[in-house]
Amino acid sequence: MTEIIAPKGTKDLYLPEIKKWQFIEEQIRQYFSRFLYQEIRTPIFEYTELFYKGTGSESEVVQKEMYTFKDKANRSITLRPENTPSVVRSVLENNLVQEIVPLRFFYIGPMFRYDKPQKGRYRQFHQFGIEVFGDPSAEVDAEVIFSAFGFLEEINIQNIELHINSVGCRQCRPEFLKKLQESAQQKRDELCEDCQRKITTNPLRIFDCKNTHCIEISNHFPKISDYLCPQCHDHFAGVRSALSILEVPFTSNPRLVRGLDYYTRTVFEITSVRLGAQDALLGGGRYDNLFQELGGKEIPATGFAAGIERLILHLDQVPDSKKKIICIVFQSPSFKHKALKLSTYLWKKGFPVFIDYNAKNMKKQFKKCDRIGADYAFIIAEEEISSQSISIKNLKTTEQIQIKSEALDQWLRENI
Ligand code: HAM
Repeated sequence: MTEIIAPKGTKDLYLPEIKKWQFIEEQIRQYFSRFLYQEIRTPIFEYTELFYKGTGSESEVVQKEMYTFKDKANRSITLRPENTPSVVRSVLENNLVQEIVPLRFFYIGPMFRYDKPQKGRYRQFHQFGIEVFGDPSAEVDAEVIFSAFGFLEEINIQNIELHINSVGCRQCRPEFLKKLQESAQQKRDELCEDCQRKITTNPLRIFDCKNTHCIEISNHFPKISDYLCPQCHDHFAGVRSALSILEVPFTSNPRLVRGLDYYTRTVFEITSVRLGAQDALLGGGRYDNLFQELGGKEIPATGFAAGIERLILHLDQVPDSKKKIICIVFQSPSFKHKALKLSTYLWKKGFPVFIDYNAKNMKKQFKKCDRIGADYAFIIAEEEISSQSISIKNLKTTEQIQIKSEALDQWLRENI
């Protein structure tokens, strides 16, 4: 083992797990193109200010979990802990509102949070997410939720639950927060230390606490659903009725508040019964004020992000999309160039081909074919050269045939 190891909370990805990653990434691209999402790639690091203004200075992520450092010009840089503020920044900075219609983006990439690592929780983890801009309707929220739920079904992730809530807007939330603070103050001594701090800094987060005693107490605190203004109330009713039309099963959960500060109205999470403590597979919601908070005009927005590592934990098997592998086996070193010629022909046609250039004899080459899991061996020997033919051995059945070189194209079309 080397003495230098990967940093805590990160991991290397390689076979066989990398197959699952490739499968998921391919499915994301295919699936979300149905809803007209375009890919966007933003930098992995941004100026720290973006997350203070975007994710929210009072959120746990910004307060405790960011990888922040000064660059050589003394600017404060942060490895992105999430991608929503970056996508909004990019749309504003590049004036994409004018250029891309519809304004719908998806992304896949690494995020960084200084979290306590455990199963399903890492310091470098990967998200895929979608963001829809410019549509205030309840129906588009339901469509986003439908696409999230449908994607998990598409990749065969089962035993999932969808929780939704509305966290209101700038108009109705302050009144609710006041009432919540009052109730929490009255029970202050019974709450955990963390919740006591949240009463003044971020009372909504009290609902995130996992302490069973705090949960029992906060169950009796005011619920945001009782304080929604008529517009937020109607919007939430619209989301629920559209979800019913879309046949997405959901639970309305008044405790669901999400960990990031920008949400307005609809919030949602899909959890898994299999994940235990880190049960959130994905989460998202509406954030109608973020464009303004980052210096733009008001543009309604909604979206979600999923943790790819957590999806991987749920994928037992992925369909084997492996192309058939051909090994070219040559009788003696003098046939090496013939083997190269044949492989060039096959590579250009798109077939995976392997040649063991250094093997001493054919037996060794066949052994190598087995080890790399090849499906066919194309054999070039004295007999094949003189009769302008090629022998093809099916390495799974051991059946062997000899065909004329000019018939190779047809054989490939019919067999691989
Ligand atoms: P989030 O809930 O902070 O939302 O993260 C989304 C998902 O990322 C989580 O549900 C979880 O699956 C995964 N995740 C978060 N932290 C970790 C970690 N340390 N290790 C592994 N997986 C993790 C957002 O990030 C928002 N930007 C979502 C959004 C997009 N809202 C609107 N648009």
